Amino acid sequence: MKFTSLIAYASLISAASASAVPKVSDSSTNSSTVIGDATILNFLLIFENLENALYTGALGSFTQDDFINDGLPTWSRGRFEQISAHEQAIVASLSDAVGSNAIQACNYSLPYTSPSSFTELAEFISGVSVAAHLGVSQYNTNSETATIAASVLSTKARHAAWIAAPVNKHNAWSGAFDTPLSFNVAYTLAAQYMSGCPSTNPSLPFTAYPSLTIANATAGQSAAVSAASNVTIEGQYIAFFSGLSTTFVQVQEGQVVIPNDSMGISYAVLTSSKSLADDSTIMAGVAAVQVDFNSYGLRE
Ligand SMILES: *[C@@H]1O[C@H](CO)[C@@H](O)[C@H](O)[C@H]1NC(C)=O
Ligand SMILES: *[C@@H]1O[C@H](CO)[C@@H](O)[C@H](O)[C@H]1NC(C)=O
Ligand SMILES: *[C@@H]1O[C@H](CO)[C@@H](O)[C@H](O)[C@H]1NC(C)=O
Ligand SMILES: *[C@@H]1O[C@H](CO)[C@@H](O)[C@H](O)[C@H]1NC(C)=O
Ligand SMILES: *[C@@H]1O[C@H](CO)[C@@H](O)[C@H](O)[C@H]1NC(C)=O
Repeated sequence: MKFTSLIAYASLISAASASAVPKVSDSSTNSSTVIGDATILNFLLIFENLENALYTGALGSFTQDDFINDGLPTWSRGRFEQISAHEQAIVASLSDAVGSNAIQACNYSLPYTSPSSFTELAEFISGVSVAAHLGVSQYNTNSETATIAASVLSTKARHAAWIAAPVNKHNAWSGAFDTPLSFNVAYTLAAQYMSGCPSTNPSLPFTAYPSLTIANATAGQSAAVSAASNVTIEGQYIAFFSGLSTTFVQVQEGQVVIPNDSMGISYAVLTSSKSLADDSTIMAGVAAVQVDFNSYGLRE
């Protein structure tokens, strides 16, 4: 991506009214109702920096022999080198576009111990990044901006699908529609891996929710719900974000019935409403619910 294009990208992602999304403020404008361009690009850098650290770290730790000895295909590590180079290019371009207010990478605590646990984690994080990019796509009010943003998003979706399917032997997609996540939902998923950020970074208006866990989810069956200790779960609702729809299920006796049409990944939050899951109602999150399905569409 060209630097000049990203300048356009940065300057053209302009203020948007935020009726259906969390309000964010931009330090450059200090308006709680304006989503500023620098804030949007810094939001995307949260995910790009995380991915950059993931690929750089794993490739620095594991050789081609390590990959092969762990049962991964001979061609996989070279492709991860390509993905890593893409991430470096995207981080550099977005950072240049934001300028001196660009956030710098944090320290990360990434739970992989082997090449294969790295590729599992990469599948999850690359999916979260796609969902985050998709979530901010509504702010692209200009056609040039929208094209550039879509260009990055589609490359990242290819990365995610390649990691999921030929490498990890899971499903490459979930359904006809990918899932867009709102700022704080996406941020919560990234923040769990961040173990300290430079104090010089500008403060961004995103917060992580208290934790939520849904154990051993199987479509159509009850699963145990647990949350941070000061969050009351009983009688509240789990909202499952899947594609462009949200399914609400009440928590009863500490359990939630996983929607029986679940396929692929859903992102779940605890909400006080049976029909709304946004910053005004979300109490805890985000639990990822993965229901694998095979080439015949059968759940595994
Ligand atoms: C931003 O605006 C709010 C409301 O007017 C004000 O209280 C706050 O001090 C401002 N912050 C900065 C950094 O200017
Ligand atoms: C990141 O980790 C390094 C090495 O442990 C440490 O020196 C540094 O202070 C950490 N930075 C932050 C912002 O936590
Ligand atoms: C997970 O759920 C399935 C189906 O209900 C059950 O057979 C299995 O024992 C459960 N596993 C754990 C670890 O609870
Ligand atoms: C729950 O605990 C967390 C951290 O311990 C705290 O930040 C949060 O404000 C608490 N929430 C409530 C509703 O008390
Ligand atoms: C899925 O759940 C809905 C609502 O509980 C129910 O009406 C439907 O019959 C279920 N479908 C299957 C295939 O179990």
